[in-house]
Amino acid sequence: MRKRIIAGNWKMHKTLVEGLELVEALKAGYIPDDYYEAVVHPPFTLLHEISKALEGSDIKLGAQNLFYEDEGAYTGEISPLMLKDAGVDYVIIGHSERRKYFHEDNDIVLKKVRAALRHGLKPIICVGETLEQREAGKAKDVVADQLSILRGISIGDMEEIAIAYEPVWAIGTGRTATPELAEEMHKFIRETVAGIFNRDVANNLPILYGGSVKPNNVFDLTSEEDIDGALVGGASLKVDSFLSIIKNAARNII
Ligand code: 13P
Repeated sequence: MRKRIIAGNWKMHKTLVEGLELVEALKAGYIPDDYYEAVVHPPFTLLHEISKALEGSDIKLGAQNLFYEDEGAYTGEISPLMLKDAGVDYVIIGHSERRKYFHEDNDIVLKKVRAALRHGLKPIICVGETLEQREAGKAKDVVADQLSILRGISIGDMEEIAIAYEPVWAIGTGRTATPELAEEMHKFIRETVAGIFNRDVANNLPILYGGSVKPNNVFDLTSEEDIDGALVGGASLKVDSFLSIIKNAARNII
């Protein structure tokens, strides 16, 4: 059975006090299960403290980004070594907000994925088309192009990787992809990965959906065969909604 993940991307939200409050409440209400791994991705400045707060809990810690060098004169950047030092397990790479506002392209995303793997961090690689691209009938071409970076990764490293399909038009808009539309793209992603590597690698790959995931739509989304969890933005900022999402995610044994 492939790994399933519910991850909360806090984006640029929460001070230390607010973040600790949220994590303490999550810890108190979280019931671990063998089916989904729960992960929180706070901003960099909170990582060390939240790592301490999560000690002894089953909730995992992730970062939202990293730089691809280990150290050096890169003002303002954070290296994979620093993330390891902060107790991080997962790292989101290539989020559409990074691609849009910080001009991250496939080359940069690949370098970041390799840097994460080099240091034992688990990359959650984001892919997804804009509304314009979807309306032009190019959604699958765009996603295939973003997935092409996987050709630069060894087959053994694929065990550490998850993909998140986040259609840009569904992020923060309340306009969730229908389960059918999301499933069509998730299946396409799995087929593409099978083409790059093989069927086993594709079958073991967790593919998360992101974009306006809420407690009331997560069950239908995760009931689909190829949707292995969720990358949650806004609804991960409140304890009740994030715990409800974890609780409501489907537990169909495939
Ligand atoms: P929302 O859940 O707020 O739409 O954000 C999704 C996202 O971008 C997670 O990475």
